[in-house]
Amino acid sequence: MILENRLNIIDQIELARVEEKISKQKAKQLFDSGDINKIEVGTFAGLALIHAYLFGDIYPFAGLIREVNIAKGNFRFAPLMYLELSLKHIDAMPQANFDEIIEKYVEMNIAHPFREGNGRATRIWLDLMLKKELKQVVDWNRVDKEEYLSAMQRSPVKDLEIKALLQQSLTDKIEDRALFMKGIDVSYYYEGYSEFRTEEL
Ligand SMILES: Nc1ncnc2c1ncn2[C@@H]1O[C@H](COP(=O)(O)OP(=O)(O)OP(=O)(O)O)[C@@H](O)[C@H]1O
Ligand SMILES: [Mg+2]
Repeated sequence: MILENRLNIIDQIELARVEEKISKQKAKQLFDSGDINKIEVGTFAGLALIHAYLFGDIYPFAGLIREVNIAKGNFRFAPLMYLELSLKHIDAMPQANFDEIIEKYVEMNIAHPFREGNGRATRIWLDLMLKKELKQVVDWNRVDKEEYLSAMQRSPVKDLEIKALLQQSLTDKIEDRALFMKGIDVSYYYEGYSEFRTEEL
């Protein structure tokens, strides 16, 4: 079943390609326009803005809470019934140090508020917390895909692995444009999208 989209695309492969291209262009615009600095940090409202920014031209559900239950592997993300309550709880979670920020990120991943695009939008949201609170961001190029995905799979039970993995990849190059663009490419690569380079779009 192909996701309903604003482009009336009915071919899955074409949708993936166009989604990658358009949303990477939007990610680039988010940084270059300075709009990224206006986003509320550490709240669902902020995450929803990022999601709407990236995917608003593609999906009618961009920035909106999903209306179906979703699972990955054998993990079920937050049941719809508890999703709004869970997002309120996450908004109230502290974000004063590295451990608190990662714990908040892990909870937001468990919430998985959108129908599609959670991984990519939430990594930008994570970096905004790290940037504001610690004056650091993740250099995603230094985070191996398999190690990251396995640490994230493990994170609802135990967050030590994702904490260690991301801690060792922090950088203080928080305003570095090339690092941001490369980070978007790596983030998309984790999810199977690697046809376009953000910098070149
Ligand atoms: N089994 C799992 N348990 C917990 N978290 C997971 C699991 N598998 C993946 N994740 C996390 O969820 C993120 C995105 O996964 P998923 O493909 O379900 O979301 P999505 O909404 O399709 O997002 P995107 O379109 O950006 O990939 C991954 O990057 C990872 O952080
Ligand atoms: Mg996806």
